[in-house]
Amino acid sequence: MQKNILIIGATSAIAQATLRIYAEQNHNLFLVARNEEALKTIAEDAKIRGAQQVEIHACDLAELDSHQSLIENVYKSYPKLDIVLIAHGTLPNQQACQEDVALTLQEMNINGLSTISLLTLLANRFEAERSGSIAVITSVAGDRGRQSNYVYGAAKGMVSTFLQGLRNRLNDSGVQVLDIKPGFVDTPMTAEFKKGALWAQPEQIAKSIIKAIDKRKNTLYTPVFWAGIMFIIRSVPEVIFKRLKL
Ligand SMILES: NC(=O)c1ccc[n+]([C@@H]2O[C@H](COP(=O)([O-])OP(=O)(O)OC[C@H]3O[C@@H](n4cnc5c(N)ncnc54)[C@H](OP(=O)(O)O)[C@@H]3O)[C@@H](O)[C@H]2O)c1
Repeated sequence: MQKNILIIGATSAIAQATLRIYAEQNHNLFLVARNEEALKTIAEDAKIRGAQQVEIHACDLAELDSHQSLIENVYKSYPKLDIVLIAHGTLPNQQACQEDVALTLQEMNINGLSTISLLTLLANRFEAERSGSIAVITSVAGDRGRQSNYVYGAAKGMVSTFLQGLRNRLNDSGVQVLDIKPGFVDTPMTAEFKKGALWAQPEQIAKSIIKAIDKRKNTLYTPVFWAGIMFIIRSVPEVIFKRLKL
């Protein structure tokens, strides 16, 4: 069955790998990102791959005031959405955040508040329809605060807790709420990092996202071995954890 799928942060490498698969499955797409030229190219590619209808909307998602009109615009194209994937984000420089309150709040805004703003608007629509899947890319970093990236971790953790509550609220409405927690993924966001055995490619993450949506999962650690790693990290007593250089 053909689905109407909203992808927010569609220029992200993980989002692009995911929407390519949905395009090949001939679904209808609505793509949102701030780079209009890149969006147009991605939309053309999606059509060539088989997407039936592809709409685009360019906006800076940090501008929370624009979210209401964005969502209204989406529903003008597709009166009912089957799936939304929220994928936008930035990886802050932790040291720079520590020296600059404005930068810390800016990072909290794009990685935390902007997603919560969009979810608040979308959740009511999904609740009224009593169906569909809301999927959000957070991060394993949200599972426990570490000195090397706790601004990012706190923003992602805030979204994960929000999703937990939303899932509880929407359970009776039959709406899936999926929290996607990737580990290290080789994308532009992590271009400067040295890659190793724990790293995954966006295409692998995309396949796992689509499978988790199909199976109506609640939480996805991806690749799956991150569930074990994060179980151990969450289990370390705070009295020890606070001494570690992580
Ligand atoms: N890569 C990893 O290791 C990793 C691990 C865990 C979680 N994640 C999460 O996975 C998601 C996707 O990231 P990715 O790895 O695919 O990295 P990416 O390719 O760098 O994608 C990040 C996307 O966010 C968009 N974005 C940032 N600020 C925005 C704004 N103000 N308005 C609109 N769009 C904005 C970027 O748009 P522009 O291209 O216009 O800047 C870009 O398309 C993010 O939520 C990230 O936090 C990534």
